[in-house]
Amino acid sequence: MPIKVRKILVTCALPYANGSIHIGHMLEHIQADIWVRYQRMRGHEVWFISSDDAHGTAVMLRAKNLGISEKKLIKNIQKEHKIDFMNFNISYDNYHTTHSIENLFLVRKIFSSLNDKNFLHKKKIVQFYDNQEKIFLPDRFIQGTCPICFSNNQYGDTCEKCSAIYEPKDLINAVSVVSGTPPILKETEHLYFDLPIFSNMLREWIYSGVLESAVIHKTEEWLKSGLEKWCISRDAPYFGFKIPNFSKKYFYVWLDAPIGYISSFKNLCLKNKNINFNDFWSNNVNSELYHFIGKDIIYFHTLFWPAILEASNFRKPSGVFVHGHVTINGLKLSKSRGCLIKASDWIKYFDSDSLRYYYASKLTNNINDIEMNLDDFMYKINNDIVNKLVNLASRNASFINKHFNGYLSDKLDDYNLYKFFVDSHKKIQNFFENREFSLIIKNSMKLLDMANQYVNEKKPWTIHAKIEKNNHLHLICTTGINLFRIIMTFLKPILPILSKKTELFLMSDLIWNDIHKPLLSQKIKNFPRLYERITSDKISQLFQLPK
Ligand code: MSP
Ligand code: ZN
Repeated sequence: MPIKVRKILVTCALPYANGSIHIGHMLEHIQADIWVRYQRMRGHEVWFISSDDAHGTAVMLRAKNLGISEKKLIKNIQKEHKIDFMNFNISYDNYHTTHSIENLFLVRKIFSSLNDKNFLHKKKIVQFYDNQEKIFLPDRFIQGTCPICFSNNQYGDTCEKCSAIYEPKDLINAVSVVSGTPPILKETEHLYFDLPIFSNMLREWIYSGVLESAVIHKTEEWLKSGLEKWCISRDAPYFGFKIPNFSKKYFYVWLDAPIGYISSFKNLCLKNKNINFNDFWSNNVNSELYHFIGKDIIYFHTLFWPAILEASNFRKPSGVFVHGHVTINGLKLSKSRGCLIKASDWIKYFDSDSLRYYYASKLTNNINDIEMNLDDFMYKINNDIVNKLVNLASRNASFINKHFNGYLSDKLDDYNLYKFFVDSHKKIQNFFENREFSLIIKNSMKLLDMANQYVNEKKPWTIHAKIEKNNHLHLICTTGINLFRIIMTFLKPILPILSKKTELFLMSDLIWNDIHKPLLSQKIKNFPRLYERITSDKISQLFQLPK
């Protein structure tokens, strides 16, 4: 049945250009990539983009620490990030940077649109200032004792111990993280975006089917407590774009970062003349736009961003897909706790399919944290992929190659079983569409158990092999291979490397709509070594790396 071709633009949150990609970040790129690869397999027009988030105080200070220019730093980091995503088979159509000509142009355009409509106002405030370093301090660069629970070393905006939210001036014994000296209060003037004007629009938008209920709930809480005007400027020195006609002021990184979604796409359109920019970003288009993000940046994407888009007459997202955070053996990923595994280190010990598979087995469409347990990881890869999946192919292929010159028979032994497998595609499609990846894995494993059980019951090793029409051994093994082929088609968006190897082995591509017809009478290759077992040795090696 032909389906309507959808036009879909998918983004991941733009990683900061001040550090390496770790396996926590990778969760998001893997989740989005699986969804994208699935939509592409269904024949839709999908564009998948992201970018480095190059601006802000953190980038500026990191460059200073390293003794290099910001431009040099963001160039090096972007190169590194691109390699990481390539190594995990994240199939970006474009990976840009927010420090780009396209972004500058779009930020200015949106700024003047907001200005013309009188959505921007100036206001004088007092702010913490590091008098030694001569910079105003973002909340994250101020530390002190929590005014509520009195825990030490808490940030200027929230307490990690008791989750209290407060103003930096309420911190007890505040110090600047940059110089270690107590900051002073200093007056400055800033530019504010009139977010409250958009409260009603946002209240309507969050119920328009664009968010999951947990995310609606969170956004509702902010809306209920009343929105405030949003400060979109920062004082020099700052690494970012200068605000026109506002001396020594820069656009706040969180204004120009989401605009990076538009500018990365603009940059893609410059490289690929077949894509029409307006089809994806003009107001009231019927293309779809989805943002994959983590739960820590919800309000930027469900409040500020849709308001900015509305204010400047761009389309709003069709969905904001939020995931929880990766924890390792119960701990938050953090450098100081020694469990921050870089993507580039992971790939030295394990392949990328293993992480993709493990994350998929845990991913749902809710915002619960994803616990990475390394014993569980080893068990899942060895048990599911090696013992069940690869074994199904190898045991059947060995008979086909040994006794039948590598040719599949011209019919199956069990069409009912085959049909049962094919019919599960509807369920699997729903799970993909709704990002219920853990259910895809569960269902595929159930099918796999059925397939292996079928082979066990038929005991092919007891059957006499003979090159003759409808030799029973031949039909059984051909059925086994075909069941494997269906499951691999379902898992293709999750396991790109294993899929590629499978396609070479079957000498036939894994195509979504092709499962309806079994693979018959044709040659398959000798069975290659499809997957290596994971050993606990390697896991401990990865953990003993100097951090
Ligand atoms: N630069 C901003 C995003 C701007 S989007 C217009 C940012 N960058 S980040 O590098 O800190 O995070 C990028 C993404 O990675 C975010 O969606 C964040 O939630 C996600 N993750 C960072 N650590 C994570 C885990 N430990 N686990 C899962 N996702 C995590 O925020
Ligand atoms: Zn506290």
